[in-house]
Amino acid sequence: MSYRVFSGIQPTGQITLGNYLGALRQFVALQQDADAFYCVVDLHAITVAQDPSLLRERIVDLATLYLAVGLNPQKSTLFVQSDVSAHSELGWILQCMVHMGELSRMTQFKEKAEGKDTVTAGLFTYPALMAADILLYQTSRVPVGDDQKQHLELTRDIALRFNSRFGETFAVPEVMMLKEGARIMSLDDPAKKMSKSNPNPQSRIEILDSPDDIRKKISRAVTDSDREIRFAPQTKPAVSNLLVIYSLTADVTIDSLVAQYEGKGYGAFKKDLADVIVAHLTPIQEKHREIRGSGLTEDVLRQGAATAAQEAEETMALVRERVGLGGFRRR
Ligand code: TYM
Repeated sequence: MSYRVFSGIQPTGQITLGNYLGALRQFVALQQDADAFYCVVDLHAITVAQDPSLLRERIVDLATLYLAVGLNPQKSTLFVQSDVSAHSELGWILQCMVHMGELSRMTQFKEKAEGKDTVTAGLFTYPALMAADILLYQTSRVPVGDDQKQHLELTRDIALRFNSRFGETFAVPEVMMLKEGARIMSLDDPAKKMSKSNPNPQSRIEILDSPDDIRKKISRAVTDSDREIRFAPQTKPAVSNLLVIYSLTADVTIDSLVAQYEGKGYGAFKKDLADVIVAHLTPIQEKHREIRGSGLTEDVLRQGAATAAQEAEETMALVRERVGLGGFRRR
């Protein structure tokens, strides 16, 4: 029996190597065995202000990237969150099941709210919408990076709470994370995760970066004080992060890289790392250029929205009945 997978990415900036290695690449691997739903979560994106025309462009760009990295629309359902109104509907219902205290403990909210004069209520209730995304599709596994783990735990709590109050309704999802690579760190500061919203573009590799930019960014990446290439995340976080990136991108073990670069300086290591990244990303970029503007992405998203809406409606019918809502409109 195949199992249901759901995951999503926000169209809030250029997708980074962190997003790719930690999440997007797993999506492709999973589509072999899983019945997968992958989403461009535009409703989550508007929890902070977005320019409307740029948002629309980024939605199509991100969906195109899903296809360029190898998602097969024949195997997986690819769609935009706001095209399936059940996400907003269930998001509201789950806001009425989650407690203020639980939402206040979310580290991602605290980080995003820090230093801001004011934040939207949507940023605060964000995890309820994320729970809705996942629970609508009776998902059993959710591939994500480490920063989403707390949201996943809350999703499980919400599902269990709903099921115990109203009777079995939702599958309770498991989080899926890589052992190494679930948290790719910034190139300029190994204490921070690599992020598409970091104001410093040198902190990240973007999937669509030119070979030149990739080489510059890697050569400027911070390293640790000695010259040794060793995997020690606590004492050598910067080099360890580069080793993880190298290992995942080239599909070789960290041990073999450490052996290969024994006695060699950072210069040779960084040059090879940049080459490996460029070689890995070039075909993805070519594919992205080929698909963008061909109309394929738009067709896939139209079909995906129809498939997702149908699937989501099955869960919604049950939810409305269980909670005691409406039920008079013919669907
Ligand atoms: P987002 O858009 O911030 O990131 C998309 C995915 O990339 C992972 N990720 C990373 N993995 C490794 N290293 C990094 N430096 C790194 N940065 C990001 C994220 O963990 C994520 O898996 N809330 C989600 C989007 C979302 C979602 C969902 C995910 C909405 N609904 C339902 C799963 C299921 C987010 O903001 O991801």
